[in-house]
Amino acid sequence: MRRASGRAVRHRGERAILREMPTRGDTPIRGRDPSWPAARSGPPVLPGDDPRSIAIAAERLRAGGLVVFPTETVYGLGANALDPRAVARIFAAKERPAFDPLIVHLADASAVGTYAETEDAEDPRVVRLAARFWPGPLTLVLRKRAVVPGIVTAGLPTVGLRVPDHPVARALVRAAGVPVAAPSANRFGHISPTRAAHVVAGLGSRVDLVLDGGPCRVGVESTVVLLAGGRAALLRPGGLAVEAIEAEIGHLEVLVDGAPGTAELAPGRAGGHYAPRVPLEIGDPLDPESAPAFAVRPGERVGLLAASAAGRDAAEAAGGPFAAVEVLDADGDLVGAAARLFDALHALQDAGLSRIVAEPVPDVGLGRAVMDRLRRAAHDSRAVNR
Ligand code: TXA
Ligand code: MG
Repeated sequence: MRRASGRAVRHRGERAILREMPTRGDTPIRGRDPSWPAARSGPPVLPGDDPRSIAIAAERLRAGGLVVFPTETVYGLGANALDPRAVARIFAAKERPAFDPLIVHLADASAVGTYAETEDAEDPRVVRLAARFWPGPLTLVLRKRAVVPGIVTAGLPTVGLRVPDHPVARALVRAAGVPVAAPSANRFGHISPTRAAHVVAGLGSRVDLVLDGGPCRVGVESTVVLLAGGRAALLRPGGLAVEAIEAEIGHLEVLVDGAPGTAELAPGRAGGHYAPRVPLEIGDPLDPESAPAFAVRPGERVGLLAASAAGRDAAEAAGGPFAAVEVLDADGDLVGAAARLFDALHALQDAGLSRIVAEPVPDVGLGRAVMDRLRRAAHDSRAVNR
């Protein structure tokens, strides 16, 4: 199928196919995403499940272009990882600081040894995690081979590798025939996108093409684990529970922000996270100490990010009325909460609020990724607003 569509593109030309294919810019197609904005400008947005889209996007990647594609975690802003000029365009489009390395996406685990040192690629823990969790929301940071350009790893001796679990992402990487460097497809410091509409609103025509795969299933970024130089450390909690990883390979060190060595090993933690335009604070409606957070002063428009329906009811009993309410998961399920987190933050950020109060979730399983993102958002909003 891939070869057939590849032939079709060469034979008929990309422009002709783009003209013929319904794109999001012209008409809302297939009704997959009701939140699609009416804007007519912006990049072509093609349906990810059409093999012609994959062929066009793969060609764009090989030609040095920027292609946004869905993964199971969040949308990625992809470029050919072996083309330093293309990778430089990622940093420019995102306005991302050059010290923050990118994850390289592979079609399958067999390519690990091409990009990582043999000793790390053959480390039994790496082999085990790859076999158990790839494709999936896990990034392994291993010592890199020389073939990986320094710009991809921000000059670090290690590279983050991941096999995404999304049919569009895998078809694209396979069809491109090159590894794909891709950070989340948001501007630096903004909320990660879990829908194509978020990408178009945030990056617009800074990208060459967007593949629409509908909403992302996992909804938070991959869990990043360092397995290099004899270490085993959690660099970022994410869409794969730490407990599941530890059940396979034993205890992971947890790096503490600000501790010696953390910034060198995990540069992304220094500042590559969501800094809300609207101040956000974490408050537990059942904790009297949080009462001021739930008290709405006259003229204030406060948004509530509740972990569950019960949390919403408790918050409404503790204070309010709230101008906008988002419930992460009615039953308080943590997988459901992670899946809704960025969507809910996008909605609250666009609701014209003075501030957001967010209910904490338990710090276990995927709750760890949710709390990590909320704490960083709260920390940054203090820095920005006080
Ligand atoms: O789920 C995901 O991981 C998404 C999708 C698109 O794959 N990607 C993503 O990329 O979240 P980004 O760039 O937004 O976050 C990648 C994180 C950054 O915090 C970065 O610092 C860290 O991974 N990272 C990448 N390579 C690294 C390396 N060699 N050493 C330490 N940290 C690394
Ligand atoms: Mg990111």
